[in-house]
Amino acid sequence: FTLDLDGTPTNIKIQPTMYGIFFEDINFAADGGIYAELIKNRSFEFDEPLTGWKQQNTQTLSHNLDSGFLTIYSDHSKTNKNYARITVHNDKKYILENEGFRGIGLHKDAKYDFSFDLENVSGNISAINVSLVDKNGAVISTVPVIIKGKGWQKYATVFLPTRTVEKAKLQITFTGNGIINMDMISLFPQDTWKGRKGGLRKDLVQKLYDLQPGFLRFPGGCIVEGRTLAERYQWKKTLGNVADREYLINKWSSGFAHRLAPDYYQSFGLGFYEYFQLSEDLGAEPLPILSCGMACQFNTGELVHLEELNPFVQDALDLIEFANGNESTKWGKIRTEMGHPKPFNMKYIGVGNEQWGEDYIERYKIFEKAIHAKYPDIQIISGSGPSPDGEFFDYGWKELKKLNAQIVDEHYYNSPEWFTKNAARYDAYDRSGPKVFAGEYAAQSVGVVKPDNKNNWQTALSEAAFMTGLERNADVVTMTSYAPLFAHADGWQWTPDLIWFNNLQSYATPNYYVQKLFSNNRGTDLLKIYHNKTPVSGQDKLYATAVKDSEKNEVIIKIVNTDSQKKLMEINPKNIKLGQKVTKTVLAADALSAENDFKTENIQPVEDNSVIKKGAFSMGIPAHSLVVLKIK
Ligand code: AHR
Repeated sequence: FTLDLDGTPTNIKIQPTMYGIFFEDINFAADGGIYAELIKNRSFEFDEPLTGWKQQNTQTLSHNLDSGFLTIYSDHSKTNKNYARITVHNDKKYILENEGFRGIGLHKDAKYDFSFDLENVSGNISAINVSLVDKNGAVISTVPVIIKGKGWQKYATVFLPTRTVEKAKLQITFTGNGIINMDMISLFPQDTWKGRKGGLRKDLVQKLYDLQPGFLRFPGGCIVEGRTLAERYQWKKTLGNVADREYLINKWSSGFAHRLAPDYYQSFGLGFYEYFQLSEDLGAEPLPILSCGMACQFNTGELVHLEELNPFVQDALDLIEFANGNESTKWGKIRTEMGHPKPFNMKYIGVGNEQWGEDYIERYKIFEKAIHAKYPDIQIISGSGPSPDGEFFDYGWKELKKLNAQIVDEHYYNSPEWFTKNAARYDAYDRSGPKVFAGEYAAQSVGVVKPDNKNNWQTALSEAAFMTGLERNADVVTMTSYAPLFAHADGWQWTPDLIWFNNLQSYATPNYYVQKLFSNNRGTDLLKIYHNKTPVSGQDKLYATAVKDSEKNEVIIKIVNTDSQKKLMEINPKNIKLGQKVTKTVLAADALSAENDFKTENIQPVEDNSVIKKGAFSMGIPAHSLVVLKIK
């Protein structure tokens, strides 16, 4: 099989945003995941305020006249109004327990910051004992806390676990006779990403960093829209002191019938400031998506009347000011006070997530007019609705084209066969119309929203084939991201997902390594690579794309072989001088059904170096593989 690599410039740039990340708090991605808080319902704000908490020495939370009891009190002057009142009797050791997010993960010898607010109300409780225990109640780490005077006070101590435990619990033991109030009971590893207090889980952010993403889209997904308008994501409520950020039930708590998670809330400890900061840490363009005044059309589909849309539009304008305004502006000042005087230099904003039909277009027009009137340089992402090629999708595209929309977000969850068949999807797209953001895609081994989809090699390979088509059409497709990003092995609602984690570890799927190979080898300029003068998109089950990296002075060829036979590839350079050193990176697996897991990442890129003589060269491409050739 011959590939002609033509070095004649195509004038098509590969945008730095080509390969990015889609982040949504689904599958415990934020609370219980990347946001490293280990205590669930730390300030008793869930609708059922004792979710996650239990009295260890009684079966229920009813009054235990022997040792004590807990009641919820509320201070209505606060956004997070609830706190726990603990009444202790008879020096009998009243014990309160928190179960964490599907347990509390502890690493031996790592340090954990434990803190809480406490008010000594009356009586005689002069000390409490806080412990981390395993599932059998054996102590892993324990510290006594002496109670200081009256009034609300902050307490902080450090745990140093002597063992690694995946599903520990927190126990607070009270002795004496008296009443105390407690709130914001919090436990964080000290070793977070960049060592930030109350920060993000390091191993998970590292995996994102390693992708070298061009953008970070946040905070979703359907949670942007909410099941109802009242439950939409409101970025302004996610700023400031974390203790004051109002809790909201997560849209994904209702998941799908088989994966209900009534204990899934958003604490917003990972809020908009933190998302911008994360984008900056990753070197990724921040790409926030906001509600366009339509609740999720798969749920209530509630609509804001056009005359009442203004607060929603104002939220978008204020967000741009929050990200980019200087200290003299209202929202720029808030960002400065939160610790980031330098603007975040936001360039993109998404209006609505996955909305469709006339209702969407009407609302989009209002947003577009207002945003561009004030901020003409901001690029607006509009939506084309769910899975492509239906009636809604065609309508959306037609209308958005008429409106000269800048970037249209397409989502597709489909079979591996669909992905390989659609590698040429963008070859015929209108070059003068809006650009495409392939904002959510993933091959489904079983079917969309089915619980038993696998992140197997077949799905990853089909995505790789499809991605050659994205890259080959980089003049139309300027942004792409796999979705969803994260899933907790014991708390997911959606499969497949790019990165799986539990309370201690995480692993990268084959799909992750496909993303990584494309993103890390993005290049700067598209080159033409042909077989018999036509793009390589399925002939002999092969797919290929080529780019030049003018900064590193490299040529990169990506070849996907979806056949069960190994291929011998002749590569003929034309109008281009190739260097002599080739790095060949192969991603392959023993079987299409192969997967990675917590124990082993069998499927990961393997590199070798070789030297070629100048000019044409040949290369073996293994069966069912993605091969990246970097020629320097
Ligand atoms: O990625 C999971 C969901 O799929 C997203 O929230 C939504 O946008 C899409 O329907």
